[in-house]
Amino acid sequence: MCGIIGYTGKKQAEPILLEGLKRLEYRGYDSAGIAILKNGTIEVRKKQGKLHVLADELRRLPIEGITGIGHVRWATHGIPNEINAHPHLDEKKKIAVVHNGIIENYQALKKKLITEGHRFISDTDTEVIPHLIEKFYKGNLTDAVRRAASLLKGSYAICCFHKNEPHKIVGARCDSPLIIGLGKNENFFASDIPAILNYTQNVVFIDNAEIAEITPKSYRIINYKGKKILRKPTRIKWNISQAEKEGFKHFMLKEIFEQGKVTKNILEERIKKNSIHFEELALKNTDLKRIKNIAIVACGTAFHAGLTGQYVLESLTGIPVWVDTSSEFRYRNPIVGKETLAIFISQSGETADTLAALREAKRKGAKTLAICNVLASSIARESDGVVYTHAGPEIAVASTKAYTAQLTILYLLSMHIARKRSKLSEKDFNKLLLQFKKLPHILEKTLSKYRKEKNNIANYAKLFREYYLKMHHKSTFLYLARNINYPNALEGALKLKEISYISAEGYPAGEMKHGPIALIDENPWVVCIATKSAVYDKMISNIQEIKARGGIVIAVATEGDKSIRNQNINYIIEIPEISEFFSPIVVVVPLQLLAYYVAREFNYDIDQPRNLAKSVTVE
Ligand code: M6R
Repeated sequence: MCGIIGYTGKKQAEPILLEGLKRLEYRGYDSAGIAILKNGTIEVRKKQGKLHVLADELRRLPIEGITGIGHVRWATHGIPNEINAHPHLDEKKKIAVVHNGIIENYQALKKKLITEGHRFISDTDTEVIPHLIEKFYKGNLTDAVRRAASLLKGSYAICCFHKNEPHKIVGARCDSPLIIGLGKNENFFASDIPAILNYTQNVVFIDNAEIAEITPKSYRIINYKGKKILRKPTRIKWNISQAEKEGFKHFMLKEIFEQGKVTKNILEERIKKNSIHFEELALKNTDLKRIKNIAIVACGTAFHAGLTGQYVLESLTGIPVWVDTSSEFRYRNPIVGKETLAIFISQSGETADTLAALREAKRKGAKTLAICNVLASSIARESDGVVYTHAGPEIAVASTKAYTAQLTILYLLSMHIARKRSKLSEKDFNKLLLQFKKLPHILEKTLSKYRKEKNNIANYAKLFREYYLKMHHKSTFLYLARNINYPNALEGALKLKEISYISAEGYPAGEMKHGPIALIDENPWVVCIATKSAVYDKMISNIQEIKARGGIVIAVATEGDKSIRNQNINYIIEIPEISEFFSPIVVVVPLQLLAYYVAREFNYDIDQPRNLAKSVTVE
């Protein structure tokens, strides 16, 4: 939800801010703006629409200057127009501010500021910030921000500068991410690491209720009481090519194709000499033995990974597991306590509902564990233990490689807990490990079929589009699966709807007769996961029921399954043979590709689907 960046150094700020915003655009893309200090005056350019609109404007009207801030917006308060776009200024145009988050008490603050003579021009909550800073400014921006920030309620990451302090940018954070990037004679603020990776891999993470200031040669962090905080930089292992498309048309496609490598890296990192290692877990063997139940809490795709985690954890550890969406868990007064292990899954580690759910679980005494991709993110830092997925930056809004990475970690974690609790014999553990180690190769084999531009999934997407137009836009999708692949039905449907805007539902196939079968006629295309498994025959029966009612079926089947070819199925997508237990990590790949190709047929903006943002840092 919004991306912010700040630069002060010796180079021209404009191209650096624009490039950083390009890498933050996944966080919001309904408007964008920058403010740069030019010869003692703050110059602002902002534009409604995607970043390229602002870039065009800057080509026409460039701004020279070496200190500046930038913003990409996902609107919360006020429609996405030019006035509401950031940066926002104070009345005397001495202070420029960009903000990510929501100021919950902005109305009360605004009312008071108006009575004190301040005039507002936008509908945003953000505009109170430059006015408050203006009110407290007595020649030291850091101090004014500290006083202003202590009045703000809600979530925020802020960057700002004052025209009288030309080489200084001040940032503040509360529940929205903000980092400092340390360069040579130049320093940065940013919402996320990829924005600054081209310039530095040395990063300082800012914590909640902290104010930070940067100049080209220094950085300083204080708390709201003004007390100095010493924090050393962290060296980030990501490199810039990971945050680039590397010849792929879209980040989503690149990230789908990275999944073989990502799982291989995870297994290599975690499996050493036939045992599983989680150095950062922070759970002692005695803790693992004490667990009586496990709660998995997450949103969206991470929630679907959690649902698969339930099957895997329960079957290997024998511990009862339940899975909740974070937004429900946080308000439901869930029954968790000292004997609960609460696992929070989040790619970004910043999802507001998941963070709130984590705090609720901690408050109730549960042991908490995060599975996150983004290093030192809020959820990772606030949990008792963390396991990083190390999947590299995921830029496309539609999550793909983070999902398979989360699944991989959940399998490893389940095996680890099962072993520590003596629920899995050494022999069975080794057998599973052997199968698991083959998985990256199977994934690569699956993906290699689709490296060619022309492949059967791309072709089915083309046929779907033709059908959709013929049916006057009435066609929809239904995804059916059973058992351990059921969460993939939900995930396949989510992927399709978020990037192609076509209505799609995921269902456990056994529930078909309890409602969804009423939908079957010639309209919906029904994706059935019918790979070789214990529930194969039942899936075939479901397929027959759909065919008997004139439905169109796409089946995901196992290579070499001849009998499925006799089922009069319209379209078949094959995956290599794999054990049912590990199959979810492979089965999801054709579903991701189907969603991708359908969206591409309609020429949609795949990496930045409408209304969505990658990191949902507001409720
Ligand atoms: O960063 P998180 O994993 O916490 O994000 C959770 C969801 O917002 C996310 O998975 C969302 O559903 C994706 N757009 C799905 O592709």
